[in-house]
Amino acid sequence: MAMKGDQVAKFVTFEGGEGSGKTTQIRLAAEWLRERGIPVLATAEPGGTPLGQKIREILLNRGAWTIGAEAELLLFAAARAQHVRETILPALAANQWVLCDRFADATFAYQGFGRGLDAKFVKSLNAFSSLSLVPDRTLLFDLSPEIGLARAKRRVTGLRPEAAEDRFEQEERAFHERIRKGYLTLAAAEPDRFRIIAAAGDLDTVRGEVRDQLECLF
Ligand SMILES: Nc1ncnc2c1ncn2[C@@H]1O[C@H](COP(=O)(O)OP(=O)(O)OP(=O)(O)O)[C@@H](O)[C@H]1O
Ligand SMILES: [Mg+2]
Repeated sequence: MAMKGDQVAKFVTFEGGEGSGKTTQIRLAAEWLRERGIPVLATAEPGGTPLGQKIREILLNRGAWTIGAEAELLLFAAARAQHVRETILPALAANQWVLCDRFADATFAYQGFGRGLDAKFVKSLNAFSSLSLVPDRTLLFDLSPEIGLARAKRRVTGLRPEAAEDRFEQEERAFHERIRKGYLTLAAAEPDRFRIIAAAGDLDTVRGEVRDQLECLF
Protein backbone atom coordinates (compact mmCIF):
# COMPACT_ATOMS: atom_id res chain seq x y z
CA MET A 1 0.00 0.00 0.00
CA ALA A 2 1.42 3.40 -0.93
CA MET A 3 2.16 5.92 1.81
CA LYS A 4 0.08 9.04 1.98
CA GLY A 5 2.79 11.21 0.45
CA ASP A 6 3.20 8.97 -2.63
CA GLN A 7 -0.37 8.72 -3.51
CA VAL A 8 -1.58 9.45 -6.98
CA ALA A 9 -4.91 11.28 -7.09
CA LYS A 10 -7.93 9.07 -7.67
CA PHE A 11 -11.09 9.61 -9.64
CA VAL A 12 -14.05 8.23 -7.69
CA THR A 13 -17.65 8.36 -8.87
CA PHE A 14 -20.75 8.16 -6.68
CA GLU A 15 -23.65 6.48 -8.46
CA GLY A 16 -27.14 5.27 -7.63
CA GLY A 17 -30.80 6.19 -7.83
CA GLU A 18 -32.54 9.25 -6.48
CA GLY A 19 -32.37 9.80 -2.76
CA SER A 20 -29.72 7.10 -2.29
CA GLY A 21 -27.44 9.52 -0.42
CA LYS A 22 -24.82 10.35 -3.05
CA THR A 23 -24.78 14.11 -2.51
CA THR A 24 -24.87 13.76 1.28
CA GLN A 25 -22.00 11.28 1.34
CA ILE A 26 -19.83 13.01 -1.25
CA ARG A 27 -19.81 16.10 0.93
CA LEU A 28 -18.83 14.08 4.01
CA ALA A 29 -16.19 12.14 2.08
CA ALA A 30 -14.63 15.32 0.70
CA GLU A 31 -14.46 16.84 4.19
CA TRP A 32 -12.89 13.68 5.55
CA LEU A 33 -10.24 13.51 2.83
CA ARG A 34 -9.40 17.20 3.32
CA GLU A 35 -8.97 16.62 7.04
CA ARG A 36 -6.40 14.02 6.11
CA GLY A 37 -4.55 16.59 4.04
CA ILE A 38 -5.65 15.15 0.71
CA PRO A 39 -6.57 17.77 -1.89
CA VAL A 40 -10.00 16.98 -3.25
CA LEU A 41 -12.45 18.36 -5.74
CA ALA A 42 -16.10 17.41 -5.24
CA THR A 43 -18.16 17.92 -8.37
CA ALA A 44 -21.44 16.81 -9.92
CA GLU A 45 -23.11 15.94 -13.20
CA PRO A 46 -24.75 17.51 -15.00
CA GLY A 47 -23.04 20.65 -13.80
CA GLY A 48 -19.49 21.14 -12.67
CA THR A 49 -18.85 23.80 -15.33
CA PRO A 50 -20.74 26.94 -16.41
CA LEU A 51 -21.97 25.10 -19.51
CA GLY A 52 -22.98 22.12 -17.38
CA GLN A 53 -24.97 24.39 -15.06
CA LYS A 54 -26.90 25.75 -18.02
CA ILE A 55 -27.59 22.24 -19.28
CA ARG A 56 -28.64 21.18 -15.80
CA GLU A 57 -31.17 24.03 -15.66
CA ILE A 58 -32.56 22.97 -19.02
CA LEU A 59 -32.91 19.36 -17.87
CA LEU A 60 -34.35 20.03 -14.41
CA ASN A 61 -36.73 22.85 -15.17
CA ARG A 62 -38.43 21.40 -18.18
CA GLY A 63 -42.11 21.96 -18.53
CA ALA A 64 -42.21 24.73 -21.09
CA TRP A 65 -40.52 22.42 -23.59
CA THR A 66 -40.25 18.75 -24.37
CA ILE A 67 -37.00 16.82 -24.19
CA GLY A 68 -37.08 13.46 -25.93
CA ALA A 69 -34.88 10.58 -24.80
CA GLU A 70 -32.38 11.14 -27.61
CA ALA A 71 -31.99 14.86 -26.92
CA GLU A 72 -31.70 14.12 -23.22
CA LEU A 73 -28.88 11.66 -23.85
CA LEU A 74 -27.00 14.22 -25.95
CA LEU A 75 -27.46 16.99 -23.39
CA PHE A 76 -25.97 14.81 -20.66
CA ALA A 77 -23.15 13.86 -23.02
CA ALA A 78 -22.40 17.50 -23.82
CA ALA A 79 -22.30 18.41 -20.14
CA ARG A 80 -19.94 15.49 -19.45
CA ALA A 81 -17.53 16.29 -22.26
CA GLN A 82 -17.09 19.81 -20.97
CA HIS A 83 -16.88 18.62 -17.37
CA VAL A 84 -14.07 16.16 -18.12
CA ARG A 85 -12.10 18.60 -20.26
CA GLU A 86 -12.55 21.74 -18.16
CA THR A 87 -12.76 20.43 -14.60
CA ILE A 88 -11.91 16.77 -13.99
CA LEU A 89 -8.76 16.25 -16.05
CA PRO A 90 -7.09 19.47 -14.86
CA ALA A 91 -7.83 18.56 -11.22
CA LEU A 92 -6.36 15.08 -11.62
CA ALA A 93 -3.34 16.56 -13.38
CA ALA A 94 -2.87 18.84 -10.35
CA ASN A 95 -2.96 15.70 -8.17
CA GLN A 96 -6.33 16.47 -6.65
CA TRP A 97 -8.69 13.61 -5.93
CA VAL A 98 -11.94 14.04 -7.81
CA LEU A 99 -15.21 12.85 -6.28
CA CYS A 100 -17.96 13.05 -8.86
CA ASP A 101 -21.70 12.87 -8.11
CA ARG A 102 -22.90 10.75 -11.09
CA PHE A 103 -20.87 10.11 -14.23
CA ALA A 104 -21.04 7.94 -17.35
CA ASP A 105 -22.63 4.97 -15.56
CA ALA A 106 -25.63 7.17 -14.78
CA THR A 107 -26.13 7.75 -18.51
CA PHE A 108 -25.98 4.03 -19.08
CA ALA A 109 -28.42 3.31 -16.25
CA TYR A 110 -30.94 6.09 -17.02
CA GLN A 111 -30.84 6.57 -20.77
CA GLY A 112 -29.79 2.99 -21.59
CA PHE A 113 -31.58 0.72 -19.14
CA GLY A 114 -34.22 3.26 -18.05
CA ARG A 115 -35.27 4.74 -21.38
CA GLY A 116 -34.23 1.82 -23.53
CA LEU A 117 -31.83 3.63 -25.85
CA ASP A 118 -29.41 1.43 -27.78
CA ALA A 119 -26.83 0.13 -25.33
CA LYS A 120 -23.98 -0.08 -27.84
CA PHE A 121 -24.49 3.49 -28.92
CA VAL A 122 -24.78 4.76 -25.34
CA LYS A 123 -21.56 2.96 -24.50
CA SER A 124 -19.66 4.48 -27.36
CA LEU A 125 -21.12 7.94 -26.72
CA ASN A 126 -20.11 7.56 -23.06
CA ALA A 127 -16.52 6.82 -24.05
CA PHE A 128 -16.51 9.79 -26.42
CA SER A 129 -18.05 12.23 -23.95
CA SER A 130 -15.76 11.04 -21.13
CA LEU A 131 -12.70 11.55 -23.33
CA SER A 132 -12.17 7.86 -22.48
CA LEU A 133 -11.61 8.70 -18.80
CA VAL A 134 -12.71 5.78 -16.58
CA PRO A 135 -13.16 6.14 -12.80
CA ASP A 136 -10.61 4.40 -10.56
CA ARG A 137 -13.48 3.38 -8.34
CA THR A 138 -17.25 3.66 -8.51
CA LEU A 139 -19.35 3.52 -5.36
CA LEU A 140 -22.85 2.32 -6.17
CA PHE A 141 -25.40 3.45 -3.58
CA ASP A 142 -27.90 0.65 -3.83
CA LEU A 143 -31.35 1.26 -2.40
CA SER A 144 -34.93 0.29 -3.19
CA PRO A 145 -36.57 3.06 -5.23
CA GLU A 146 -39.40 3.16 -2.72
CA ILE A 147 -37.09 4.36 0.05
CA GLY A 148 -34.99 6.51 -2.27
CA LEU A 149 -37.92 8.40 -3.74
CA ALA A 150 -39.47 8.92 -0.30
CA ARG A 151 -36.18 10.40 0.91
CA ALA A 152 -35.82 12.57 -2.17
CA LYS A 153 -39.34 13.96 -1.74
CA ARG A 154 -38.66 15.00 1.83
CA ARG A 155 -35.43 16.72 0.89
CA VAL A 156 -35.29 20.47 0.59
CA THR A 157 -33.84 20.95 -2.84
CA GLY A 158 -33.39 24.70 -2.95
CA LEU A 159 -34.98 24.64 -6.39
CA ARG A 160 -38.06 26.70 -7.18
CA PRO A 161 -41.31 24.97 -6.14
CA GLU A 162 -42.31 24.39 -9.75
CA ALA A 163 -39.10 22.47 -10.17
CA ALA A 164 -40.77 19.68 -8.22
CA GLU A 165 -40.96 18.56 -11.78
CA ASP A 166 -37.64 16.93 -11.89
CA ARG A 167 -39.05 14.58 -14.43
CA PHE A 168 -37.11 11.59 -13.19
CA GLU A 169 -38.79 11.90 -9.80
CA GLN A 170 -42.23 11.81 -11.41
CA GLU A 171 -41.63 8.67 -13.37
CA GLU A 172 -43.08 5.31 -12.64
CA ARG A 173 -41.73 2.91 -10.11
CA ALA A 174 -40.90 0.50 -12.95
CA PHE A 175 -38.53 3.03 -14.45
CA HIS A 176 -36.63 3.30 -11.17
CA GLU A 177 -36.53 -0.45 -10.79
CA ARG A 178 -34.93 -0.65 -14.25
CA ILE A 179 -32.35 1.91 -13.17
CA ARG A 180 -31.50 -0.07 -10.08
CA LYS A 181 -31.19 -3.32 -12.05
CA GLY A 182 -29.16 -1.52 -14.69
CA TYR A 183 -26.67 -0.24 -12.16
CA LEU A 184 -26.35 -3.70 -10.59
CA THR A 185 -25.75 -5.18 -14.06
CA LEU A 186 -22.98 -2.66 -14.68
CA ALA A 187 -21.44 -3.45 -11.29
CA ALA A 188 -21.50 -7.19 -11.99
CA ALA A 189 -19.78 -6.62 -15.34
CA GLU A 190 -16.94 -4.59 -13.77
CA PRO A 191 -16.39 -5.95 -10.27
CA ASP A 192 -12.89 -4.45 -10.02
CA ARG A 193 -14.15 -0.93 -10.46
CA PHE A 194 -17.49 -1.07 -8.61
CA ARG A 195 -18.19 -1.35 -4.91
CA ILE A 196 -21.78 -1.65 -3.76
CA ILE A 197 -22.76 0.48 -0.77
CA ALA A 198 -25.82 -0.67 1.20
CA ALA A 199 -27.49 2.73 1.06
CA ALA A 200 -30.50 1.81 3.22
CA GLY A 201 -28.28 2.02 6.30
CA ASP A 202 -28.27 5.07 8.55
CA LEU A 203 -26.09 8.02 7.68
CA ASP A 204 -23.18 7.06 9.95
CA THR A 205 -23.11 3.45 8.80
CA VAL A 206 -23.05 4.51 5.17
CA ARG A 207 -20.40 7.12 5.93
CA GLY A 208 -18.24 4.40 7.48
CA GLU A 209 -18.64 2.16 4.43
CA VAL A 210 -17.64 5.00 2.13
CA ARG A 211 -14.55 5.74 4.24
CA ASP A 212 -13.54 2.09 4.20
CA GLN A 213 -13.79 2.07 0.43
CA LEU A 214 -11.80 5.27 0.02
CA GLU A 215 -9.12 3.97 2.39
CA CYS A 216 -8.64 1.01 0.07
CA LEU A 217 -7.44 3.50 -2.54
CA PHE A 218 -4.74 5.10 -0.39
N1 LIG B 1 -28.46 7.10 5.19
C1 LIG B 1 -29.51 7.93 5.17
N2 LIG B 1 -30.61 7.67 5.89
C2 LIG B 1 -31.70 8.48 5.85
N3 LIG B 1 -31.78 9.60 5.14
C3 LIG B 1 -30.71 9.92 4.37
C4 LIG B 1 -29.52 9.11 4.35
N4 LIG B 1 -28.64 9.68 3.49
C5 LIG B 1 -29.23 10.77 3.01
N5 LIG B 1 -30.46 10.94 3.54
C6 LIG B 1 -31.44 12.01 3.24
O1 LIG B 1 -32.12 11.61 2.07
C7 LIG B 1 -32.29 12.71 1.18
C8 LIG B 1 -31.62 12.40 -0.13
O2 LIG B 1 -30.20 12.32 0.04
P1 LIG B 1 -29.22 12.87 -1.07
O3 LIG B 1 -29.68 14.17 -1.57
O4 LIG B 1 -27.84 12.77 -0.52
O5 LIG B 1 -29.45 11.74 -2.20
P2 LIG B 1 -28.94 11.74 -3.70
O6 LIG B 1 -28.51 10.34 -3.97
O7 LIG B 1 -27.94 12.80 -3.91
O8 LIG B 1 -30.28 12.03 -4.50
P3 LIG B 1 -30.44 12.62 -6.02
O9 LIG B 1 -30.05 11.51 -6.96
O10 LIG B 1 -31.89 12.91 -6.11
O11 LIG B 1 -29.57 13.82 -6.12
C9 LIG B 1 -31.69 13.91 1.90
O12 LIG B 1 -32.73 14.61 2.55
C10 LIG B 1 -30.74 13.31 2.90
O13 LIG B 1 -30.59 14.13 4.04
MG1 LIG C 1 -27.90 14.39 -5.24
